[in-house]
Amino acid sequence: MIRRIGVLTSGGDAPGMNAAIRAVTRSAIVKGLEVFGIHDGYLGMYENRIERLYRKSVSEKMRAGGTFLGTARLVEFDQAEVRQVALENLRNFNIEGLVVIGGDGSYRGGLALSKMGMPVVGVPGTIDNDIGGTDYTIGFDTAINTAVEAVDKLRDTSNSHRRCSIIEVMGRNRGDIAVWTAMAVGAEVCICKEFGFNLQEVIENVRRAAQSKRHAIIIVAENMVKVEELAQEISAHTPFEARATVLGHVQRGGSPTVRDRVFASVMGATAVEALLSGKDRHCVCYRDGKIVVMTFEEALVDDQTDLLEKFEIFKLLW
Ligand code: F6P
Repeated sequence: MIRRIGVLTSGGDAPGMNAAIRAVTRSAIVKGLEVFGIHDGYLGMYENRIERLYRKSVSEKMRAGGTFLGTARLVEFDQAEVRQVALENLRNFNIEGLVVIGGDGSYRGGLALSKMGMPVVGVPGTIDNDIGGTDYTIGFDTAINTAVEAVDKLRDTSNSHRRCSIIEVMGRNRGDIAVWTAMAVGAEVCICKEFGFNLQEVIENVRRAAQSKRHAIIIVAENMVKVEELAQEISAHTPFEARATVLGHVQRGGSPTVRDRVFASVMGATAVEALLSGKDRHCVCYRDGKIVVMTFEEALVDDQTDLLEKFEIFKLLW
């Protein structure tokens, strides 16, 4: 029977991570467990920066963006010697199970740690919505709402000046932020990895928009095209002058939406239940409208079904 658990956030921060830490802490305490917060993800585990969390430690944290435990990307965690030091630090605190809140890289770290004997359960926390096993990752809703709010503002100025706005959004491995934002703002074009990039098609769409509108919106997922260069092409080959904006890390900040707070709360509490019921190398997922628990291996398989369906509908609405 597990009596002490650790919790950490790892990888890029995401709005709602605090609500997840709170849910892990509070639900574990209710079940008679002691909870330890690990600062800055696997880095703090390696550096032994671990502290006891109480009910009060997580008060007033729900509405804050970021993660109050801090986070990091520790590439060295793929080295067994680094993990061994981290594991010994956990053992010195008598920690017998771990909740890892993060994205696919954090899950891989958790999987490796669990193979060395520490039971691990994951909670999906990343704005990218890029974990295959789950239809939802904590932070995604806040990030897309931030992106949509920004694009709505850009549309005002584009429209006033008869311009085309090209907006780069985050999501280095998945186009979810791009597609959802494009759909929500009624963009003319969405460029992301899953659907490729065809300059001629983009130019034709923008020209078509110019026949009936005073502006056009192009949403681009990061790493797809150089947005400044695309702006030059659009300015040269369509009636619109174009301007490029990179939204960047603003998408990762801000107070979490209701959806992120509630998902984080439910998923955090479910992770504690899973650890207590003996689950290891598992993670909490939202699948077909239900919260479920599946293995890391299952969850790390990419599933683009929902994204592909959304993109098909988006194209109908161009
Ligand atoms: O957390 C996910 C993410 O925001 C990606 O969308 C982006 O590519 C990456 O993190 C940026 O990472 P960093 O903050 O380390 O530059």
